[in-house]
Amino acid sequence: MPSNYDNSAWFYDRLSRVIYGRAIIRSQVYLLQHIPASSNILIVGGGTGWILEEIAKIHPSGLKITYVEISAKMMALSRKRNAGRSEVNYINEPIENVPVIENQDVVITPFLFDNFTEQTLQKVFSHIDKALKPGGIWLNTDFHITGKWWQKILLRSMFVLFRIICQIEASQLPGIEKCFAQYRYGIIDQKSFCGEFILSTIYQKQKTYEVLKTS
Ligand SMILES: C[S@@+](CC[C@H](N)C(=O)[O-])C[C@H]1O[C@@H](n2cnc3c(N)ncnc32)[C@H](O)[C@@H]1O
Repeated sequence: MPSNYDNSAWFYDRLSRVIYGRAIIRSQVYLLQHIPASSNILIVGGGTGWILEEIAKIHPSGLKITYVEISAKMMALSRKRNAGRSEVNYINEPIENVPVIENQDVVITPFLFDNFTEQTLQKVFSHIDKALKPGGIWLNTDFHITGKWWQKILLRSMFVLFRIICQIEASQLPGIEKCFAQYRYGIIDQKSFCGEFILSTIYQKQKTYEVLKTS
């Protein structure tokens, strides 16, 4: 069953600021410098849409953004954001139901995959991967366990809370980094935030000739 963030839309950003301060924002803003001008971008699970305003600060115009968000209430908040003069196509559907929008230069998945079981991760990842062109950039940020005792407690508490409020299906982190490795994505840059609990990574999809060489 897909998650339902409708119930949390009105307090989601405030709650995340209370728990993580500005780490959630900093971890995503760090990734945005890698967006080339005039690119086609697919954003999946943008929540209340503040990321559109942060992107507009870097690129006030010239982007073609496809913004896919499953929650109607999150989407309503996102539509009110100032995305500058870039074109934004809002799609209020689960990404896995959206026909592949090919040839994207950049894909952004901010705290999307932590919602999923391993099985859903595989399905959604493979769907999004088809949208990104060879050599394209995938900006991903999500939780990441490095062994500190408090990380597991915080993560478990979040799963409990969001299972109750948003009916998320996950009860543990799926193998997100493993998935990128499995699809042979290269890492261009990477930074951790919030005592290494959050990991932001700039991945690059293999160029066609590399795929041919390794297949
Ligand atoms: C954990 S929240 C993160 C929100 C935002 N990126 C942020 O960092 O504040 C995950 C978001 O992904 C959306 N989402 C979950 N599953 C989705 C799917 N299959 N397709 C599109 N959006 C999805 C949820 O509705 C929610 O807004």
